[in-house]
Amino acid sequence: TIIKTSKINFNFMKNKKIVLAVSAGIAVYKAVELLRMLVKEGGDVRVVMSANAGQFVTPLTFESLSGNPVYHQLFNSEKSADMEHIRVAENADLMLVVPATASILGKMANGLADDALSNLYLAFKGPVMVAPAMNEGMWSNLAVQKNIEQLKSRGVQFIDPEEGELACGTIGPGRLANLDMIFSRVKSHFVKLQDLRGIKILVTAGPTHEPLDPVRYLSNPSSGKMGYSIAGQAQARGAEVILISGPTHLKPPAGAGFKSCKTAEEMNQLVKEFLPKCDVLIMSAAVGDFTAEKLEKEKIKKQRGAGWTLNLVPTKDILMEVSRIKTHQFVVGFAAETQNLVQSALEKLRKKKLDLIVANDISAPGIGFQSDNNQVTLINADEKIENLPRMSKKEIADILLDRILLLNGGR
Ligand code: CTP
Repeated sequence: TIIKTSKINFNFMKNKKIVLAVSAGIAVYKAVELLRMLVKEGGDVRVVMSANAGQFVTPLTFESLSGNPVYHQLFNSEKSADMEHIRVAENADLMLVVPATASILGKMANGLADDALSNLYLAFKGPVMVAPAMNEGMWSNLAVQKNIEQLKSRGVQFIDPEEGELACGTIGPGRLANLDMIFSRVKSHFVKLQDLRGIKILVTAGPTHEPLDPVRYLSNPSSGKMGYSIAGQAQARGAEVILISGPTHLKPPAGAGFKSCKTAEEMNQLVKEFLPKCDVLIMSAAVGDFTAEKLEKEKIKKQRGAGWTLNLVPTKDILMEVSRIKTHQFVVGFAAETQNLVQSALEKLRKKKLDLIVANDISAPGIGFQSDNNQVTLINADEKIENLPRMSKKEIADILLDRILLLNGGR
């Protein structure tokens, strides 16, 4: 197994910068308790309040419990030093809007900024989680639901309200989600962010170039997007990543180790060099299967009417080599197929002794090479098949990493 137990018990929330954004609903008093829970877990929490939230609980309460200044006034003549705190908030790891009123959801969905909370939301670039609370009529209003859909489509995560007795005396959905539920969603957000801590992952990406003469080469249309997404997500989830890439136009993820190469043989050498230091190999590169038998030293000139006959020889199959030299590594291969998807992928899985194979049908339009989206089928060593719907390569990368973790005992 690739996971060492000593790395499991880790306080995932410690020192994480969290913005607790409080809007003006009766449930504000619950945000006070949530703040206590987050601080107890080691979170560095900054509270921002909407214009009217102070009608329910004073900023002083939040300031005392968080140990940090509270941002609640947009226009404040005295304290230019506040800007510093606002910058810290803008760069926080998570923004948590609890409780979120119908009004603040409307502002967030439509880009309005007329108080401290809505301004900070617009300036904030990190992940946002929202726990709405309002009366049942407002919750089911189409305008509110449309705003929620809009925010969801932009990646905002929702912790849905519960059914129950509401402050206005009615019964229905709208009551702020249970605090334990909100807390556990926040916690699992940070667990997820670091769930690959301590694991070393080697990823290959992009096409290879097999030179024919000084100006020509043999290649394929791989853009490298799948491999770079895997490397980026693995890095974001705390793994130590080494990305070996053929020629692409992409920027390697910040913080990852990076080695570039051109030919299949160069990639082969790099994989062999780094494999012993790694726990997982994800071979998403579209490695050229053939290379010129003879590399022409001079550029081949065209002669009217004459052709050029190339003699190609197979390259080394990197995954076959890996199957012979691997020790504890979990090895993932890819299969790009135009027919008999599952059968062909299964054959590759067995032949190359893989732990997991990611198969995709490259004949389907709008997915695969070059595209931002893909639709893949995962097959593990027990030959269990999982068909994933069409999604972004980033989402596929995350699911693939989830499955690798799960097949290694989870975390
Ligand atoms: N691969 C490799 N070394 C090569 C070629 C491919 O390690 N020289 C890896 C790819 O990175 C990918 C998997 O093997 O993970 C793809 O398998 P492969 O048999 O090359 O697929 P195809 O090129 O589609 O092969 P075929 O023509 O047999 O379908």
